[in-house]
Amino acid sequence: MAQMRLDKFLGEMGIASRSQIKEMARKGRILVNGQIEKKSERKIEPEQDCIEVDGKYVQYTAFEYWMLNKPQGVVSATEDGRYPTVVRLIGEAKRKDLFPVGRLDVDTEGLLLMTNDGGLAHRLLSPKNHVDKVYDARIEGRLPADSKERVEKGLVLEDGTPTLPGRLEILSDQEIRLTIREGKYHQVKRMMEVLGCKVVYLKRISMGALVLDENLAPGEYRALTQEEKQKLGVVQP
Ligand code: URA
Repeated sequence: MAQMRLDKFLGEMGIASRSQIKEMARKGRILVNGQIEKKSERKIEPEQDCIEVDGKYVQYTAFEYWMLNKPQGVVSATEDGRYPTVVRLIGEAKRKDLFPVGRLDVDTEGLLLMTNDGGLAHRLLSPKNHVDKVYDARIEGRLPADSKERVEKGLVLEDGTPTLPGRLEILSDQEIRLTIREGKYHQVKRMMEVLGCKVVYLKRISMGALVLDENLAPGEYRALTQEEKQKLGVVQP
């Protein structure tokens, strides 16, 4: 990766302001690969050089976190032979190793977290953690009167796969909000099928503590705020 100035690196890692870092370097408090470095403007290689401040190693943690409102016609993958991928939509990304946290079908819109933080992705996607995902759907057909209770108990999909208990809200004759805690293949569509309905439009609204920003039109994205990162348990120095 490209070199960067020592003071920029330490600033980005939240150690201190550039002027404070200059002073710290002058006092011999900063080491680069074990040697005292008095010039805070010198270039370093963030992923290779060992930087220490007051005896503590400063790890380079260049994670990026983006909220994308996924549009239809784009696949939730890093590469695809047929369709454009969500990774391409993040034009401002610096990192080349971004990936989507979980998958949305090609015709599904809505919240998709894009990051290169594998640990966070694992925590959000691990079936053990039962992270709530909320979807809004437009459906065709009539829901049976006991639909809510059936979803709350857990449905059995047409191939015999049981689902965990979820929550169904009926917003209007053709609109529902469904909360599920797992991410089985086409899960919302298949749950609606069991209830005799067809999903004609699907949009993810939230994933755990992360809620889609209503100001993002399909295809638009923005960086997560500090507050959103904190809610997801991301700790950055
Ligand atoms: N359930 C589906 O059926 N499709 C999605 O894209 C997400 C959840």
